[in-house]
Amino acid sequence: MDYTLEQIYPKEYKGDLILLHGSEVADRTMPLAKKELEYLRSRCGEEKETVVVFDRLPHHLYVVCFDSEQEEPLCQERLRRLADQVVGLLKADKVASVAVTGVGVIAEEVVAFVEGLQLADYSFDRYKGKKPYHLEHVAVDSTFLTPEELDRSVRLWRRIDWCRQMVDTPVADLNADRFAKELEQQAKSLGVDCTVLNKKKIEALRMGGLLAVNKGSVDEPRFVVLEYHPDGAINPKPLALVGKGIMYDTGGLNIKPDDYMQEMKSDMAGAATMASVLFAAAANRLPVHLVAFLPLTDNRPSFNAYAADDVLTMYDGTTVEVVNTDAEGRLILADAIAYAVANYQPELLIDAATLTGAAVRAIGTYGIAAMQQHADNPFNLLRIMGNQVYERVAEFPFWSEYDKLIESEVADIKNCGIAQAGAITAGKFLAHFAKETPYIHLDIAGVAFFSKKQHYYRPGASGFGIRLLYAFLQTYEMVKIKN
Ligand code: BES
Ligand code: MN
Ligand code: ZN
Repeated sequence: MDYTLEQIYPKEYKGDLILLHGSEVADRTMPLAKKELEYLRSRCGEEKETVVVFDRLPHHLYVVCFDSEQEEPLCQERLRRLADQVVGLLKADKVASVAVTGVGVIAEEVVAFVEGLQLADYSFDRYKGKKPYHLEHVAVDSTFLTPEELDRSVRLWRRIDWCRQMVDTPVADLNADRFAKELEQQAKSLGVDCTVLNKKKIEALRMGGLLAVNKGSVDEPRFVVLEYHPDGAINPKPLALVGKGIMYDTGGLNIKPDDYMQEMKSDMAGAATMASVLFAAAANRLPVHLVAFLPLTDNRPSFNAYAADDVLTMYDGTTVEVVNTDAEGRLILADAIAYAVANYQPELLIDAATLTGAAVRAIGTYGIAAMQQHADNPFNLLRIMGNQVYERVAEFPFWSEYDKLIESEVADIKNCGIAQAGAITAGKFLAHFAKETPYIHLDIAGVAFFSKKQHYYRPGASGFGIRLLYAFLQTYEMVKIKN
């Protein structure tokens, strides 16, 4: 999809037009006849939010009525969802090029609506013989934003799209090596530093967690480090982004039963998310020094696969008793976190991981299960930005009692606790490796990949969390001032 800015006069526009319509609007600014206005009033009166289509043969006018009296983030979210409705109509009308303007709306609402068009238009077409419909061109009314503002949003949206493509690609076409190569290529095009460590190097570094999970695989693991270090960065020490990169999660020898395995191509969503956030920040030259740490491997059973009861020695020397080979994400993340802390002394470390089914059972598919340690200020900012962009985070308790649940008889700690509080014990396991570094853990298992359509997301990868972290980085300066 490409975007342009144009001056749009609703009453004169020749072409398919979307008109956003806030609550209080003077009638005379509407490109509608008296009867049409009456009709619109009756429709909007019944259901405050609705899309009303007027024929302007051969074109259409889509009037999107929304309740602009609500709180701003909610208005914007409603507009993203209405955009999904509009994409359905455009598809039915075979419209590939459309213009967007509005009356009684603010710039942020127009951007949110266009963002909704972009997110709703995504589909994973790689293996489709007949390419499905897509919206090809959107002209946005230049009264609302500058070319630079539009470009910045578009660069972020392109990264979300790339993330979804990666997550939707099955392991047969995207193993650790191929994903590392793709990351290298993307980094190169943006002037981001990229280091790819191969198995030999990972062995030399003694990353016992990543190597154990990889033992059952015929494909080598990779450990990718991306660095974006702009001149004049506001943070003297880097911000570390760690992402779970399980290219496929069969569960290993504790193999996943029946249909629990399906969709596990998405188990590298954390890595794709963190790479996307760093790439978007680099593309838009945000003044924040970022380093992403992405451990990549699949998790499979084989004659040589790692087994429950194994004791691993991790990168930082911690010994770990394996209780279940399906709790593999935390093992590769532990090495990545320990590596980041030891070699980069980050001022804050955030990880994103499709880590536990427990997180999904706790809060469903409506937000991110989050935990933090020594990071009250940045976490508050993250929570605020989550509400702003409607990618919300719910903070779970991180009480010391939970540490007891991962104490081991034979090693320093074990890789899973009891059935209760599974999302939290997973977070606690990771926090052990973050040590004193301010740390935020984001369990994105419920939101990275949707089995069913959810609002403007089709079934499949969502890119959920990228807008959140990008908004966080944009406002990260606020935390610095408070400190
Ligand atoms: N990748 C899964 C978690 C997951 C589940 C992500 C559902 C997305 C949707 C993770 O590696 C896993 O298998 N977790 C286990 C942990 C358990 C063995 C302690 C789980 O949640 O069941
Ligand atoms: Mn697993
Ligand atoms: Zn997993």
